[in-house]
Amino acid sequence: MKPRVIVTGTAGLIGQYFVKSAARWAPGWEVCGLSRADLDLTDQAAAEQVWQRLKPNAVIHCAALSRTAECEGNPQLARCMNVDTTGYLARLSRDIPFIFLSSGEVFNGKAGWYQETDEPNPINIYGKTKLEAEQRVLENPAHTAVRIVLTAGASQYGDRSFVEDMCRSVKNGKKVTLYVDEFRCPLPAGAIARSVWELLDQGASGLYHLGGRERLSRWEIGQALLRW
Ligand SMILES: NC(=O)c1ccc[n+]([C@@H]2O[C@H](COP(=O)([O-])OP(=O)(O)OC[C@H]3O[C@@H](n4cnc5c(N)ncnc54)[C@H](OP(=O)(O)O)[C@@H]3O)[C@@H](O)[C@H]2O)c1
Repeated sequence: MKPRVIVTGTAGLIGQYFVKSAARWAPGWEVCGLSRADLDLTDQAAAEQVWQRLKPNAVIHCAALSRTAECEGNPQLARCMNVDTTGYLARLSRDIPFIFLSSGEVFNGKAGWYQETDEPNPINIYGKTKLEAEQRVLENPAHTAVRIVLTAGASQYGDRSFVEDMCRSVKNGKKVTLYVDEFRCPLPAGAIARSVWELLDQGASGLYHLGGRERLSRWEIGQALLRW
């Protein structure tokens, strides 16, 4: 029997790529994807029951309140989902690997080219909640936090990634404001999933930065997508 890994947030942009890519990049694992329809993760009693029933050997936690504006509009919900729920699931997973997807938004972005050793200094609710969640997760030395970057990909309803947002706007003839002095190192969701599968297989714990090799301004990203 294969070991079982729970992946949360599988109706979201990145979570679905873990499910789709498992046969190729994680053939040694039985993947059990959980979307909100399967389980509201903020219901701690229900989550505990699911963990007891599924008896996972590892967890990849993708579910989150992931949109910056939504977090600013509802800081309480952001804290509940991003910090408290993540902390609770990490405690439920105390004896197994737990990989938490965090964000480069734990930094204020003024310096750039951040290393894992740089001091985080988030400037928005989303970044603050992700940083606090990391601290809860990394209390367990066997657990892992991976700070990922702006992620490209196609979602179930075409409404999750920046690629989808930009393409939809252009197709509808809407103007898009793109900055020449805001830089990102984007990655496709499939590459993120593949790298995290590798971290899981290597039993890699601790804090990791996972970003694309190329630094692009929002303007350059828009130019690239426009041609495509
Ligand atoms: N996408 C990026 O560019 C990016 C960049 C850096 C870090 N990250 C991090 O990477 C992770 C995955 O991001 P993503 O882009 O895949 O986000 P996403 O598309 O927003 O997916 C998150 C998923 O979490 C689910 N969820 C939220 N609250 C829940 C709850 N109470 N119970 C169960 N499920 C719940 C959402 O369900 P619904 O579908 O029902 O809303 C959604 O499917 C997140 O931790 C995010 O912070 C993403």
